[in-house]
Amino acid sequence: LPPVRATDDEHLLLELVEQRIREVASSAPPPVGDAALHLITAGGKRVRPMVLLHAAGVGPLRNGNVVDLAAAAELVHNASLLHDDVIDEANLRRGRPTSRTVWGNAHSVLAGDHLMAAALELLEASVVPGVLRSMLATMRRLVAAEVVQLAHRGKLLPDIERYEQVIRGKTAALFSGCADAGARAGGADEEICRALTGYGEEAGMAFQLFDDLLDLSGTPDELGKSMFNDIAQGVATLPVVLAAQRRPELAHEIMEAARTSDSSSRDLEAIVDSVRHWVEATGAADETRALAHLHIERALTSLVSLGDRAERRQLEALAMAMINRSN
Ligand code: FPP
Ligand code: MG
Repeated sequence: LPPVRATDDEHLLLELVEQRIREVASSAPPPVGDAALHLITAGGKRVRPMVLLHAAGVGPLRNGNVVDLAAAAELVHNASLLHDDVIDEANLRRGRPTSRTVWGNAHSVLAGDHLMAAALELLEASVVPGVLRSMLATMRRLVAAEVVQLAHRGKLLPDIERYEQVIRGKTAALFSGCADAGARAGGADEEICRALTGYGEEAGMAFQLFDDLLDLSGTPDELGKSMFNDIAQGVATLPVVLAAQRRPELAHEIMEAARTSDSSSRDLEAIVDSVRHWVEATGAADETRALAHLHIERALTSLVSLGDRAERRQLEALAMAMINRSN
């Protein structure tokens, strides 16, 4: 993310979050701790903790341990990724081999379980009312989205409504949950809590849409493998779905390449070029970008009830950073 003008306080809090999640990951018995650390040290953006910390700044209170809450949110996220990579049989994440390819599926699942248990412990120990219950509801939404995604596996081009339903559950839910936890920690009143969770939900939608665009800008080798992996698993992102709807030959080409798993890297490169070209040429990229912008506008609108204050400007800058980034 491009630098959101964070105060020294926020830098310090993020540094403490970082320490906390590494401490938690390394407390698992080896090699599960290594499997967890492998993902946690791979360079995540920590955008969920940022949402939580910024939301916590809105209310009048400063006495909840926001570091532990923000760490818990990032731990839930990383736990879900460790499990997701097993479900998706993914070999690459954040440009590195996935934990499951290094330590195996079993250790990866256990690493996710360890992080999730630790996250729940941190929430349970929190003095902030309702944060555990709220995060449990968020986790249910994550699971439900993953179930929908699984149910539609193999249908190479899911409908757009389904795509939106899935990204709402798998990404927007946790962003909204982070805003909710932050709002609670700051002691915000009910109306402000609603405004902040609405912000989180909409910013999360935009984040995922933009992520799906960025996914198309990796190296052909990385991109080729992960794209075909997703498509072979029946998971296609909005830009690819739109491009393929508008150019059926592209859909055919992608499916053919995904089917022949021994595609040489030259084949991969050619098809990646073709997908990139048609995602732009059919207007699929512009439409995805426009949809991301629409969700950001809604996120900003949700903040109107906060009035004119520094915390609102920080949340606005954070939302804008979600759709102006290069990784
Ligand atoms: C990544 O999606 C997946 C998620 C953001 C959520 C996965 C959720 C679960 C496995 C549910 C259970 C987890 C918990 C902790 C309750 P993706 O596969 O589309 O994106 P990717 O390309 O980053 O893998
Ligand atoms: Mg995945």
